Amino acid sequence: MSEIFEIGLGNNNPEIRKKADSDFVSFWDEQAKQLSWFSPWTKTLDWNPPFARWFVGGKINASYNALDVHQASKSQKPAILWEGENDESRVLTYEDLFVQVQKFANVLKSLGVKSGDRVTIYLPMVPELPIAMLACARIGATHTVVFSGFSATSIKDRIDDSKSKVVITADGGYRRGKVVKLKEVIDEAIQGFDFVEHVIVLERTKNEITLTSKDHLWHNLMDEASPSCDAEKLNSEHPLYILYTSGTTGKPKGVLHGTGGYLTHLHSTYKWAFDIKDSDVFFCTADIGWVTGHSYVVYAPLLHGATEVMYEGAPDFPDASRMWDILQKYKVTIFYTTPTALRMFMKFGDDIPNSFDLSTLRLLGTVGEPINPEVWKWYYKTIGKEKCPIIDTWWQTETGGMLISSLPGIETIPLKPGSGTRAIPGVNIAVVDENGTDVAPNTKGYLVIKNPWPGMLLTLWNDDEKYKTVYWSKYENWYYPGDYALKDDDDYLWLLGRADDVLKVAGHRIGTAELESCIVSHNSVAESAVCGIPDEVKGEVIIAFAVLKQGISKNDELEKEILLKIRNDIGPIATPKQIYFVSKLPKTRSGKIMRRLLKAIAKNEKIGDVSTLEDGAAVSEVQQSVEDLKRSMNV
Ligand code: WTA
Repeated sequence: MSEIFEIGLGNNNPEIRKKADSDFVSFWDEQAKQLSWFSPWTKTLDWNPPFARWFVGGKINASYNALDVHQASKSQKPAILWEGENDESRVLTYEDLFVQVQKFANVLKSLGVKSGDRVTIYLPMVPELPIAMLACARIGATHTVVFSGFSATSIKDRIDDSKSKVVITADGGYRRGKVVKLKEVIDEAIQGFDFVEHVIVLERTKNEITLTSKDHLWHNLMDEASPSCDAEKLNSEHPLYILYTSGTTGKPKGVLHGTGGYLTHLHSTYKWAFDIKDSDVFFCTADIGWVTGHSYVVYAPLLHGATEVMYEGAPDFPDASRMWDILQKYKVTIFYTTPTALRMFMKFGDDIPNSFDLSTLRLLGTVGEPINPEVWKWYYKTIGKEKCPIIDTWWQTETGGMLISSLPGIETIPLKPGSGTRAIPGVNIAVVDENGTDVAPNTKGYLVIKNPWPGMLLTLWNDDEKYKTVYWSKYENWYYPGDYALKDDDDYLWLLGRADDVLKVAGHRIGTAELESCIVSHNSVAESAVCGIPDEVKGEVIIAFAVLKQGISKNDELEKEILLKIRNDIGPIATPKQIYFVSKLPKTRSGKIMRRLLKAIAKNEKIGDVSTLEDGAAVSEVQQSVEDLKRSMNV
């Protein structure tokens, strides 16, 4: 029996679930009306499985809903309280943001960007990042933000796949006091890409850069730009953004999100989960380069006219007290972060948070990975002082917004540390076996979503077929997210990690196939396999196995080269904790690498009964390969 925490905010509105349960389509229809539409939709949902179009015929604009609608009553309210890594700070009111976004929208127009064009944004966590996104949204350009920690090769692939006409970057970004030279990465990434017509460069760090004929300085363009630009009236399903994410295939997938459905989902979940009030100061620590930043740093808070903190740097820079210092300084009331960050803070000890005034906090949240119950309890006691409910929100890049979470804004239910609790209203979630039959309570199965929801992806960019096979082929007309879960006796959902070959390192998604193909592309490597093993702070860390080509023997130099290659081709987040050079990888007869075995060996676990291994591998062969492997790993 897990511990139960009876804590909520006193809200109880059972009508919402009742309506949602009786008819999810008309339920979402009602929710969508809370946004500002230029013209109403004629059909709430056009469901042509697996393609959903929400609010068909309606015209809307994301930037209009984030900015224009607040100008009458909230123009002087701070929208963004920005904290630089080096102690700088900036406050942008709703009016400031409105002016900047319109000007930048005019900049994009002056460079020939039109509705439907793609714009890649590779910026650090500075206010110009949301400004650029909202400016794209304003004119109907589809933004594709790339996390500023990704390498030139990763960004090259993404610019190429999206065929972006304009790229927006900065001279550099600050990370742990050092300057990351972003412009240099872009110079390398766009070599040979004639379709990239312009590069806009924001001066952030003032490090020396070389300007090419495609380059324009952000401030020069803004000086010339006119301050008013009407928001385009776009179709509800107009593509708002592409966000690349790792999957089980070698190449990252371009998750494509629309506008009206996505915004409806965010508007509703932000209110239900965070109980947002006009007086709140919201702080989500996610980098905008990931979906949490898109949805709950940029769009959801601005739709609600909320005030939020945006932080530029590393959570433990210059020291372990940085986060609590920010919470105290800005009197944060709602704090949304990751289990990885919490595990790190917890390791630093209680004295640090205890020496700050965190009394303004009233609600806490986590996202991105399963949270261990002991970390949940630490968050509850040490940070929330036993007075803040914790929302554990499960969702994905593909889902657009939360699908599982407790919702203190509309209902008070007892919380169980480590459980996401229940699906949000209007979403039908089940835990099933291979055949699609509901599993018994407390039994691990696959999570599935049985109906379309407004925030769901439109498709994968330029790849409807892959969209169908990745998410909709395991079960007919049910969305398969690739996660294990179970339901307990009280129907609470517990998320149990990925069921596919996707790793979650410090909350970031990394595809094993992508990493393996990077390692194999080193000319000394013949074969490779990677797996994740549990880590006290990061949740999971990567262990890599490499079989070298004949005649090549392992050496320290080679290991360094491979690590460097991974950093250069993907980015530092994909760096393995260890590389084992082995003579052979354990495979099934059909040639599939047995990751389960690799994982067990890397964790130094007992291998157990190998006869239960899937795919009919011969027991003796497996045993032999385990012995070989252990010998070559010296374990
Ligand atoms: C995992 C992040 C347990 C899950 C928003 C999912 C979680 C993947 C939780 C998506 C949670 C996310 N509890 N696991 N509260 N939230 N996950 O696309 O495996 O970066 O499939 O989106 O993160 O990762 P993504």
